[in-house]
Amino acid sequence: MISETILVTGACGQLGTEIVTELRKRYGSSSVIATDVVRPTHQGLLDGPFELLDITNQAQLVALLSKYRVTQLYHLAAILSAKGEQDPKLAWHVNFTGYIAVLDAAVAYGKIAKLYFPSSIAVFGNDTPKQNTPQQTVTDANTVYGISKFAGERFSAYYYKHHGLDIRSLRYPGIISHSTMPGGGTTDYAVHIYHEAVLKGRYTSFLSADTYLPMMYMPDALKATFALMDAEAIQITERGSYNLGAMSFCPEDVAKAIRVHIPEFEIDYAPDSRQQIADTWPQSIDDSVARADWGWKPDYDLSAMTADMLHHVRERYLVTV
Ligand code: NAD
Ligand code: SER
Repeated sequence: MISETILVTGACGQLGTEIVTELRKRYGSSSVIATDVVRPTHQGLLDGPFELLDITNQAQLVALLSKYRVTQLYHLAAILSAKGEQDPKLAWHVNFTGYIAVLDAAVAYGKIAKLYFPSSIAVFGNDTPKQNTPQQTVTDANTVYGISKFAGERFSAYYYKHHGLDIRSLRYPGIISHSTMPGGGTTDYAVHIYHEAVLKGRYTSFLSADTYLPMMYMPDALKATFALMDAEAIQITERGSYNLGAMSFCPEDVAKAIRVHIPEFEIDYAPDSRQQIADTWPQSIDDSVARADWGWKPDYDLSAMTADMLHHVRERYLVTV
């Protein structure tokens, strides 16, 4: 086993829970320090060290990095797109001011070999090409979340250049998973729909039937994250953030995929304020730079993901078929 000590911020979230679990499998439970502003409840986070940490508290973060002799940092804490629009100042404070605190803590501590910062398709906006959105293109983000993520991307490149921090980043599409519920994003419908399909046999979507967005199943998100973090530094040509794609679908497509397993499943549509956010985002992503640089290739399409999601969600609610 490689000797690393890894601190994860925002560990109790949808991605954090699974990234911590996977890191603990790879490096050992005691070598992965989970941190968050809330205490963990998920079983996967209870078998190793946990510290309460608000990422805007730079001094406390430096103290934790020193206490545990941390060598890698996964900075996942954030306020997602829809939640961020309800309190834009909080979203900026956590997502941008908080990220600067993390970067400055890493520089002050001086022993972080690699730092992971997730960005998002939310960096794109109305004037971005919607189909096969290129790596380098217009980034006219419309939400505070998207603006803060794009600023974070540029600060990642800046701290790489000026402080030599080996920061690596992916622009995740909407992530679908069954272990933890999503934390307030525009793509959350694509998780909720599976739970409601199993529990109620019907779902009301907050995005319209034909709203296409780039999406990815959690196992592919984990695969991409670790492939990027395991790559040699020389392979990383993008020091802002890599475009990352897997599949593109709309709510009606998911409903059809669910009906293969639950023929009586019903869906209706009541678009809310999240529709306006979704309308500014890409529909599909060109991730050829990630593919060329460090060999990215997804495993799951909508039909494979749907079969796996329904299996796990049924297991969670102990529904037998
Ligand atoms: P989430 O909302 O599920 O989890 C975020 C976590 O951050 C929560 O546990 C929350 O308690 C914590 N947090 C909030 N404020 C904090 C603070 N001040 N200090 C410390 N912790 C704080 O989000 P997620 O889906 O797990 O996303 C993880 C990262 O991936 C985020 O940076 C997000 O922007 C990015 N991302 C996620 C998706 C997705 O679809 N899930 C897509 C693109 C990018
Ligand atoms: N899934 C995220 C959101 O909807 C995208 O970053 O906010």
